[in-house]
Amino acid sequence: MDLKNKIAIVTGSRRGIGKAIVLALAKAGAHVVVSDINLDDCNKVVEEIKAIGKEGLAVKADVSNNEDIKQMVESTVKRFGKIDILVNNAGIYMQKSLTDSTEQDFDRILDINLKGVFLCSKAVVPEMIKQGKGKIINITSIAGQVGFANSSAYCASKGAIINITRELALELAQYKINVNAIGPGVIETPMTKNLLEDKATKETLLANIPLNRIGKPEDIANAALFLASNKADYITGITLFVDGGWLTH
Ligand SMILES: NC(=O)c1ccc[n+]([C@@H]2O[C@H](COP(=O)([O-])OP(=O)(O)OC[C@H]3O[C@@H](n4cnc5c(N)ncnc54)[C@H](O)[C@@H]3O)[C@@H](O)[C@H]2O)c1
Repeated sequence: MDLKNKIAIVTGSRRGIGKAIVLALAKAGAHVVVSDINLDDCNKVVEEIKAIGKEGLAVKADVSNNEDIKQMVESTVKRFGKIDILVNNAGIYMQKSLTDSTEQDFDRILDINLKGVFLCSKAVVPEMIKQGKGKIINITSIAGQVGFANSSAYCASKGAIINITRELALELAQYKINVNAIGPGVIETPMTKNLLEDKATKETLLANIPLNRIGKPEDIANAALFLASNKADYITGITLFVDGGWLTH
């Protein structure tokens, strides 16, 4: 996959899946904007991009804050002159029963996981229209396709990402902007650290994964690399599940 001189923004990319996507895009030749809520961590990822021989830009931005997002796009265009790829990866998970969840919990999860996709896409798309093409990749989850107990707001947010992906694909096809989603299964990241440290929970999760291993951030990065490349030019509106077979049963 050749992404030479492409400019990419990856939200929520100071660690975990986002960081793996950043490094995969850089290794394929892209210059990458590392955007997250902690600037120091973003700067560390930028150092890793430089070690690959590409340029990086660290930007502090909360995806639920429209002003932050507009500034993220402005500073990207100022530095690199264009935007080819947007990966809407930022997200939070909260494990709480319906009765324990508050209205604030629900609003926070929807604001970051779903409104973030809307705000970042809305801010970036005018730049892609100027380019006459673009690739948007939204990170959803298997929890957007089936229910997971004690995760009502998370499941709602990820299910909505699958359908906003279809809608944006339809709306933006006229500009040659491809919009796709990736649905990770259980991936080893800081988000799942506590879950996976519990031996019984890990065994239960593994029992649901036909390929019999927990996924790595690089498994998701490989899919993102493909969808960001010209090899995926005729693919739009899909969700590519990368889940070791979880959704087969
Ligand atoms: N790890 C898994 O098993 C798994 C499974 C399915 C989907 N996902 C999704 O993958 C994405 C990445 O998750 P991860 O596992 O790497 O988790 P993670 O917690 O390691 O990474 C999420 C990143 O998002 C950032 N973030 C949180 N709130 C933000 C905000 N308001 N604005 C900007 N950035 C913010 C965090 O700082 C963090 O760097 C998320 O959307 C998550 O829902 C993860």
